[in-house]
Amino acid sequence: MKNDIERILVDEEIIERRLDTMAKEIERDFPAGPIVVVILLKGALVFAADLLRRIPRELSIECLNVASYHGGLESSGKVDFLDRHFPEVKGKHIILLDDILDTGRTLAAVAQRLREEGASAVHTGVLLAKDKKRAEEVEADYVGFAIGDEFVVGYGLDYKGKYRNLPYVGILKLSAAT
Ligand code: XMP
Repeated sequence: MKNDIERILVDEEIIERRLDTMAKEIERDFPAGPIVVVILLKGALVFAADLLRRIPRELSIECLNVASYHGGLESSGKVDFLDRHFPEVKGKHIILLDDILDTGRTLAAVAQRLREEGASAVHTGVLLAKDKKRAEEVEADYVGFAIGDEFVVGYGLDYKGKYRNLPYVGILKLSAAT
C-alpha cells in the first residue's frame, strides 16, 4: 500500500496535534448541553473517531451513508442518500463531520437535509478542505488542513475502497490510479 503513495501530505503527528486543537475549539464554541455528531461514512470514520475521543462531553453519534464520488477520482456532481432511515435530529444541536471539502456538494446537501429535518443548529467540520472554487457556497466551521486541489488518500480517504487505513494523508502515484 505504502508503495502506491507518491508523497505524504499530512503526517500522523501533525494530524494528532491539529485534532487536539480542533477538539478544544469545538469544546470552547459549543454551548453546554448534548451534541449529536453526524459522521459521513465511510470517509470521515477515522477522523471522527480520533476527534471525538478528544471531546470530553456528552454526545451521541449518528452515521450517514452518502455517495458523491462513487469510488473514482472525480465527484459525480450528485449526492445520494443511501440509508433507508434518516436519523431523528429535530431540535438537536448537530456537528456534521466529513473527511474532505471538495466541490462542497456533499456538505451543502447534508447540512440542508439536516435543517429540513428540524435540527436546531448545524455546524460542520472537515479534516481537509481543498483550496478551490466550490460548486456550492459552503465552507466548514472547523477545518483540519487546507490542501491544494489534488486527489488524496489515507486516514479514512480511499481510492476504489483502498488506503483508508493509512495513518497519514498522501497523494496517490499516477500508476496506482488505474
Ligand atoms: P464534495 O465534492 O461533495 O466531495 O465536496 C466530498 C466527498 O468527495 C470525496 N472526495 C475525495 N475522496 N480523495 C478521496 O478519497 C479526495 O481527494 C477526495 N475529494 C473528494 C469524499 O468522499 C468527500 O466526502
